[in-house]
Amino acid sequence: MNLCVIGAGYVGLITALCFGKKENKVICVEKDSNKLRLLKNGVPTIFEEGLDELLKESLIKDSVLFTDDLALSIKSSDIIFIAVGTPTKENWDVDVSQVEQVIDLISPYIDKYKVVVTKSTVPVGTQKYIKRKLLENNVPREYFDVVSNPEFLREGKAIDDFFNGDKIVVGCDSIKAKDIMKNLYESFKIKMVFASPETAELIKYTSNALLSVKISFINEIANLCNKVGADIDVIAYALGLDKRISPLFLNAGIGYGGSCFPKDTKALVKISENYNCELKIVKSTVDVNEKQRVLPVSILSEHYNELEGKMVAILGLTFKPDTDDIREAPSLYIIEKLLEAKVKVKAYDPMASPEIRKIFPDIIYCDDAYECLVGTDAMIICTEWSEFLNIDLFKVKELMRESVIIDGRNMLDTKKIIQAKIKAYYSIGKGNIKS
Ligand code: UGA
Repeated sequence: MNLCVIGAGYVGLITALCFGKKENKVICVEKDSNKLRLLKNGVPTIFEEGLDELLKESLIKDSVLFTDDLALSIKSSDIIFIAVGTPTKENWDVDVSQVEQVIDLISPYIDKYKVVVTKSTVPVGTQKYIKRKLLENNVPREYFDVVSNPEFLREGKAIDDFFNGDKIVVGCDSIKAKDIMKNLYESFKIKMVFASPETAELIKYTSNALLSVKISFINEIANLCNKVGADIDVIAYALGLDKRISPLFLNAGIGYGGSCFPKDTKALVKISENYNCELKIVKSTVDVNEKQRVLPVSILSEHYNELEGKMVAILGLTFKPDTDDIREAPSLYIIEKLLEAKVKVKAYDPMASPEIRKIFPDIIYCDDAYECLVGTDAMIICTEWSEFLNIDLFKVKELMRESVIIDGRNMLDTKKIIQAKIKAYYSIGKGNIKS
């Protein structure tokens, strides 16, 4: 099929390349000239497993064309995917201005029947809005249908999720468009869910919200575990044995981050408020997460009555391992609070994007974990990078001024903590150890 993907951000780029791999002819439109130049030269603009090879292959096979020529792209495509950003505003409303702009820009070039698809996460009612807007822009009704086809890709696993995900959701109110979408995804061995546009739009938010609820729930229980002397890992294991619950997304820690859960939970709360239908559980999930992500600072404040002048090492800056993405990472909020308390911060991450240096230009960035620990009064593990798993705790004790460890991802072996006589070890729901 002839496809066009507007926006070569995370979702757009993966969508374009993966559809290209499936023998479609894809045009990916990007207005950022720097991004465009890199992609045309086969240089990935984001870090994602398998992306490098996929991009190079698509250029060799000529299956994906990167361009800024919107007119040509729209005219020569049967399906147009909108994959531009939909960030959250200060008041938690979704900022759909980029989607609005795209509709205005593409309208003049819709010269025969095309399916316009939203891939971006958009608020309920957006499909209807786009239909209205296209008509207002004088696009004849018989020239288009609008479909909601949200993505469910995880960063780091996006390509695999695209080809082998759990579900493909298609929200539309036209049999013609439904058949075209069915055809497009025919070779995917993934269950398809056909729904109304409003239902599809809400499935995306509900999916991310429910996963966030699971995380905030287990984190609250973890906090209780520390008070009553229970072990959250054993509780999570036992819970996970119940097939109705599933063992996934029950890892307690310092909360969720990234470009999706924080944004989508807030957006869902706002959408519900706009419809006068409060979602108390999702609202609480956001509140719990905002408190949880700075929990290490409260632990530290209790350990040392005065934080001013202390030196703290942050191990892991990204919102999860195997990505360079720092968006909404708990580390950002922790560093901010530590700096407010006049703490000296050192940081190490195997991969964090250089963006972090723009946010915190005055902290000390180190090239490895051990260097980061030298002379510090505490270390906080914010991301469960595998290299931290086998950190030599005897060396850790030797390098730190005071070996106080806050394990925000419950990843260190408590037996080794005891053997190394670490001065104080704080976990999230697995108890604390003091020597
Ligand atoms: C998430 C969803 O998992 C995808 O299905 C969805 O498509 C995507 O958002 C999106 O909306 O685009 P992603 O943000 O890449 O994907 O990250 P996840 O792997 O889901 O992790 C999110 C956060 O939850 C991370 O900060 C992670 O550390 C945290 N988490 C996850 C926990 O704290 N505990 C867990 O048990 C699992």
